[in-house]
Amino acid sequence: MEKQYSISPDGEKFQLPEPDDYTGEFQRLKNIVRDQRNKGREIVVVMGVGFVGAVMAAVVADTEDENGNPLKFVIGMQRPSTRSYWKIPLLNRGLPPVQAEDPEVLPMIHRCVHEKETLTATFTYDVLKLADVVVVDVQCDYLKESLGDVKNGQADMAALEKSLEIIAEHIPPDALVLIETTVAPGTTEQVAYPIMRKVFRKRGIKMDPLLAHSFERVMPGRHYVASIRDFWRVCSGTNEEATNRVVKFLEEVINTDEYPLTVLNRPIESETAKIVENSFRATILAFLDEWSLFAERNGIDLIKVLEAIRVRPTHSNIIFPGPGIGGYCLPKDGGLGMWAYRHIHGFEDDIFKITPLAININDTRALHVAQLTRDALRNMSRPLAAAEILLLGASYREDVGDTRYSGSELIVRRLTEMGAELKVHDPYVHHWWEFEKQDEYPSTMHSLKRFFRNQDKLSDLRVEQDLKQALHGSDAVIFAVRHKHYLDLDPDNVVKTAGSPLAVIDCFGILDDIQIKRYFELGCEVKGLGRGHVKRIKDQVRAEREEMLLSLSAKHQADRLS
Ligand SMILES: NC(=O)c1ccc[n+]([C@@H]2O[C@H](COP(=O)([O-])OP(=O)(O)OC[C@H]3O[C@@H](n4cnc5c(N)ncnc54)[C@H](O)[C@@H]3O)[C@@H](O)[C@H]2O)c1
Repeated sequence: MEKQYSISPDGEKFQLPEPDDYTGEFQRLKNIVRDQRNKGREIVVVMGVGFVGAVMAAVVADTEDENGNPLKFVIGMQRPSTRSYWKIPLLNRGLPPVQAEDPEVLPMIHRCVHEKETLTATFTYDVLKLADVVVVDVQCDYLKESLGDVKNGQADMAALEKSLEIIAEHIPPDALVLIETTVAPGTTEQVAYPIMRKVFRKRGIKMDPLLAHSFERVMPGRHYVASIRDFWRVCSGTNEEATNRVVKFLEEVINTDEYPLTVLNRPIESETAKIVENSFRATILAFLDEWSLFAERNGIDLIKVLEAIRVRPTHSNIIFPGPGIGGYCLPKDGGLGMWAYRHIHGFEDDIFKITPLAININDTRALHVAQLTRDALRNMSRPLAAAEILLLGASYREDVGDTRYSGSELIVRRLTEMGAELKVHDPYVHHWWEFEKQDEYPSTMHSLKRFFRNQDKLSDLRVEQDLKQALHGSDAVIFAVRHKHYLDLDPDNVVKTAGSPLAVIDCFGILDDIQIKRYFELGCEVKGLGRGHVKRIKDQVRAEREEMLLSLSAKHQADRLS
């Protein structure tokens, strides 16, 4: 059989395990678990070590009792796919499989693997046989069939359903299974429970599976760890025992003294809390899209308007929508809720109005950035076709390397469709899989590629790490993400590095008025989402220039006459 490899974002190649490797790996785990049990530690298996699972695994592994002794031994379990296997050897070296700005992530994983020795990672499902608690952090996607119409789509439960079946086939009957995945409301009781119960019966197990749900509120970025450990949790179990077990577990691993736990009566309530929470956020972001256009067309800086509103305590969470909302969760979670209403609960009517509208607005907001780029170049008498455009930021959010559903992807796709040549820089992203593997990622037939023409060459798009090199020769630069590297870029340096004045597009309130003014003084054109006031700055620079020319010519004339 041909050897298969999984390549990490840094380009390191890891050979996938072969059938013979499994027995030895399980023996390794059994030996460790025996020692850990002797130390009185509970064995926790975290299934899926992605953005959530990797850091959750470390938080649990870092748990100590009042005397500073570790309470848990954690095994991160990841399926050995070519796309994801590399996360296992990386974790086993004490390295995080996610890139983030939080300075706590790396030392915490390093400490747990090498000093406390409370964390390891594996590829074998047999590990589930050793678990006291299984934390499920695999993904549950919502696949959209068209652009800007979330109702035309469906939940993709395959990975989750498969995981639950595998868990039920392996775990000790009294292991707690805690689903942290964001799921369609009703999943724990009406999908997970029947799947697991059926497998239990096949195994001759009479008791019901101990199932609970508690969703993650993690925010990858500067407060990655704290957003898991020092944050409020909601949970619920399928029966009293499961509820008691999940409460005990969360009280041990999460800082529930300062961030008290909310225990709901049924898992569907915990599942719904997550979906409503994210739909609410998607809605307040989408709501500002129309005011963003209003601002652009009426000389208003929406950034300053929002700052003014935010002072009012009742409105302090009003947030500026960047070029699309992105992130793994906000674009899909409302879809999971709507899908559940029909496909899990069997209703036929259409009660959802605001949630789908908000998602559809967010999903297409980035297209407007292509229009701003086109118009800025036109004002400089340059055609968009064949223009070299540099996009700064591929991820959906500042200071993280997660590109899932980022607005930047849509900007690249639309501008490419319109004939521009795109370059991308992002210090946190080494491979932009949405392009590099656009025919199979996120899954075959589900790339956004299919909604645009002229996309084939984007498979060759590579993320530049050298900002100077990327800027060189650019006709336009799009500030798409508020990465700290972009906040203080000096306009003089940008223009000098580019080699000539260029079109500058600000998607996220990244430029302040002094920078905007300087770009105009240097002969650039500036436009921005929600930033109508740039026209005023441009007029001011033009008036100042005319005044200067007038006074120069008056002086010239006076010199000639004297
Ligand atoms: N990323 C976030 O900011 C965030 C925030 C809150 C909640 N969530 C939710 O948490 C869940 C996980 O999200 P994520 O961002 O970590 O996703 P992810 O894709 O980064 O991680 C999921 C991991 O599970 C693995 N996996 C899939 N099937 C498996 C199986 N059968 N066995 C073992 N591993 C398997 C995948 O290979 C992947 O590594 C989702 O439901 C998401 O909505 C995410």
